[in-house]
Amino acid sequence: MTSPNLLKTLTAVVLLLLGTFNSKLAQAQSALLQNAPQRRVLSLNGSWNYIIDPYENGFYDYRREAFDQSKSGKGGYYDNQKPSSTQEEELIEYDFDKSQAMQIPGDWNSQRPELLYYEGTIWFKKSFNLTPKAGKRYFLYFGAINYESHTYLNGKKLGMHKGGFTPIQYDITSLLNPSGGNFVVVKADNTRRPEEVPTINTDWWNYGGITRDVFIAETPDTYIVDYKVQLAKGDAKTLSGYVQLSGEGKAGQTVSLNIAEVGIKQTMKTDADGRASFSVPARKLTLWSPQTPKLYAVSLSSGGDAIQDKIGFRTIQTKGQDILLNGKPIFMRGISMHDENPLIPGRARGEGDLRMMLTWAKELGCNFVRLAHYPHNEIMLKLADEMGLLVWAEVPVYWTIAWENPATYQNAETQLSDLISVGKNRASIVIWSVGNETPLSEPRLKFMSNLAKKARSLDDTRMISAALELHRTPDNVIHVDDPLGEFLDLTSINEYAGWYWGGKPSEITKYTFDIKYKKPVIISEFGGDALAGYHGDANTRWSEEYQEALYVNQLKMLGGISGLRGMTPWILADFRATRRQHPVYQNGFNRKGLISSTGVKKKAFYVLQEYYRQMAQKYDGK
Ligand code: GCU
Repeated sequence: MTSPNLLKTLTAVVLLLLGTFNSKLAQAQSALLQNAPQRRVLSLNGSWNYIIDPYENGFYDYRREAFDQSKSGKGGYYDNQKPSSTQEEELIEYDFDKSQAMQIPGDWNSQRPELLYYEGTIWFKKSFNLTPKAGKRYFLYFGAINYESHTYLNGKKLGMHKGGFTPIQYDITSLLNPSGGNFVVVKADNTRRPEEVPTINTDWWNYGGITRDVFIAETPDTYIVDYKVQLAKGDAKTLSGYVQLSGEGKAGQTVSLNIAEVGIKQTMKTDADGRASFSVPARKLTLWSPQTPKLYAVSLSSGGDAIQDKIGFRTIQTKGQDILLNGKPIFMRGISMHDENPLIPGRARGEGDLRMMLTWAKELGCNFVRLAHYPHNEIMLKLADEMGLLVWAEVPVYWTIAWENPATYQNAETQLSDLISVGKNRASIVIWSVGNETPLSEPRLKFMSNLAKKARSLDDTRMISAALELHRTPDNVIHVDDPLGEFLDLTSINEYAGWYWGGKPSEITKYTFDIKYKKPVIISEFGGDALAGYHGDANTRWSEEYQEALYVNQLKMLGGISGLRGMTPWILADFRATRRQHPVYQNGFNRKGLISSTGVKKKAFYVLQEYYRQMAQKYDGK
């Protein structure tokens, strides 16, 4: 009889091996190209044929054996098989070209009424013409596929990826048809599973499919795969970073860094790993800030490769209970946001959606946005740089994650590494958040503190945070002593006094705070639902007046926190959420938005807008 402990150990070992295998397969994809959109030669956005496959008929045979693991590797929908003659005597029970099409990027839930709640597999196929050139490399790049994807080019498997919000990239150079005719097939599966990241329960819509841009990037054979160009930690006078060439053993290669506007022209040599690190005096820089979102044209080149980026330079650090941007104390006037334009249901699809959302945030008087609860579109980060909005960026380690599953941790760490890889040159990003509202336990503390350490090892120039847990005592004290707080630079909490607990809005000013950590405090969420146009008095739940009174009293209550240095109330706009079922007030929407799902500003919008006007006056003197 196996003892329970031995069984537990064996299970952990098996899970670890499985996790390693999965992460290896997932990492079969090439190292993410930094600023990949700059290298786009062919967009694959547009109409993709699709096949709905809830039984995964196109992936497994009737004995549940994966076709692409069979000896021939054939038999799945990814072959994109066609009858060899007009008699159609072969039995082929699918045909992409005769199937329906939908628009990519775009989740399937919002494109077909019958798919609004669909969770499972849908196959996508796109044919394209690209004649590969000698001396070039080609990468197939997806901005995101939610949640698990298996991707094939011309019938050959490229790899599997997990994670619904981070880029996916495959080197397809050797698989492109010299004739130019090619086809890509994707198996996208948004099934929720307890051991995934996020887990099965979230308060947002489980939009499935290819939800961000798809394109083919071209580089020279030896290319600049990665780079970081930022100010050295806490030093506004020194640029530091690195340029990483592709391939092995590229020692002694010449790399140039050029920022013409401030007369920086640096030439350096790569080390045995193909990396050229630099530390360059930078005296004449205009530092990036929300008031002056100055971006510089940065050019990097090596051999036959060159890439340009627009980068802002600023320092961010904490000092006691202050947050210093470029050495000056700031108050972070924020708002939380999902990656969803309420006016066009579904995942936000492109720059127009994102620019509109950020314009709403600016109208509110924000200098800060919390991009909840997962990595947002890379376009959003570049817009925040351009429009002058500080960013809280986050991985979907949300609620009840499988803390003791090694594969789950590996998955979370991979998503965090990809989040930081994509965002490390964006001045707007000042906070990496390793999760949200996770229940206290030893395994959770180990999981989250390891993520915090990993984030700091990848980037020690930004603040590390997470929405911590709080608890209340009968004497109306809100206590914040979550042990995870030891590992973070900020104390952030989601507190819903006046909505989920604490009585009516007028009663919540009875609360005071007892916060263990002497660090800057950011209230990462507060709020309440209001159905736009539904009116009552300050005690009528769901009315605009209730939400307005809640904001008035929340701001009074929070004024009692001496270390308060920012907030990101929940949330800019109403958003789709499967858990929100009330047939009158919700209808599948979380209504905590300050702006309704039809773009109407609710009364509480103006309460926060006035508060932010006063805070801007106090901190920025404007
Ligand atoms: C939580 C959670 C959000 C959720 C919100 C709510 O704090 O972080 O994702 O939508 O509360 O209950 O509306």
